[in-house]
Amino acid sequence: MIRSVVRGFGTALPKRVLTNAELESMVDTSDEWIVQRTGIRQRYIAGEGETTASLGEGAARAALDKAGLTAADIDLIIVATSTPDNTFPATAVNIQNRLGMHHGFAFDVQAVCSGFVYAVTTADAYIRGGLAKRVLVIGAETFSRILDWTDRTTCVLFGDGAGAIVLEAQEGAGTNADRGVLTTQLRSDGAHRDKLFVDGGPSTTGTVGHLRMEGREVFKHAVGMITDVVISSFDATGFTADDIDWLVPHQANKRIIDGSAKKLGIPLEKVVVTVDQHGNTSAASIPLALAAAAGDGRIKEGDIVLLEAMGGGFTWGAVLLRW
Ligand code: ACO
Repeated sequence: MIRSVVRGFGTALPKRVLTNAELESMVDTSDEWIVQRTGIRQRYIAGEGETTASLGEGAARAALDKAGLTAADIDLIIVATSTPDNTFPATAVNIQNRLGMHHGFAFDVQAVCSGFVYAVTTADAYIRGGLAKRVLVIGAETFSRILDWTDRTTCVLFGDGAGAIVLEAQEGAGTNADRGVLTTQLRSDGAHRDKLFVDGGPSTTGTVGHLRMEGREVFKHAVGMITDVVISSFDATGFTADDIDWLVPHQANKRIIDGSAKKLGIPLEKVVVTVDQHGNTSAASIPLALAAAAGDGRIKEGDIVLLEAMGGGFTWGAVLLRW
């Protein structure tokens, strides 16, 4: 059986750090409120010349280096983003060109904060279907460019950045002992559209628009939706919470992360948290957190790693893999 195995990982962050203290001078907020309600202490903000594609390219190059590969070895690039450089072409095609890659194919997926989980699931389907052997999966965002910087209820929450992995087809035995993606679970329900959306777009206003969110409503649904897809991942594999070495959740809010881990019975020592450093970087948050924990040696070859996310749409999903 063909499995999609993580062969490399990498990240890229903008140069500029924006602290909670600086935000105090921009809107009516405080470091204490932000830390207590979200766990966020700082975020990175893209400056002139830094875009979703440039950050995605940086993360892709780092992941290729780590894998000991070049763009010539890649068949497919999938970019998860809700903040593309242009309405079209896809940011994936832009990154393909920046990497000097003129073969294969590239496209974007758009599932907001669940984007990376959707992109890994898509890559896994292409790999297992024999349509690609090596896929660059990138989560890249510049949410700072769609924030209303006068709205304290949203502008303190988000940041910019990118993370990438290389997934490679490897032969497995078809058991849970295989390395690679073991199960993926995706869900969406568009009835929740108005709770988290951007109030513009090419076909409606002809403008880019700004992020709008009913934070309390999102919070109310988050833990239940995350638990739903994680339980489905356990059902699909026979694993239980005790088998999980590392939970790498979407980094939206420390309270959502803690609440989900508690409900699932996963101890906090096994949960990777980077939201304090990056804020919510939407589709980039999981690969940024994965790279942090794999880079410092916490995640080791053979570990069972659980990724989960929930975001605008609503969309939600989980990926269970052996590193
Ligand atoms: N600084 C100071 N006060 C603020 C701020 C701020 N930045 N923002 C809101 N407040 C005030 C509100 O105005 C309100 O004041 P009031 O009581 O006088 O009306 C008070 O703080 C409490 O507001 P709530 O919205 O009830 O605060 P809550 O505890 O729900 O925290 C938060 C808000 C952090 C947005 C929370 O609801 C949340 O995390 N929701 C999940 C949303 C999320 O993470 N979205 C990310 C995208 S989706 C995803 O990735 C899963």
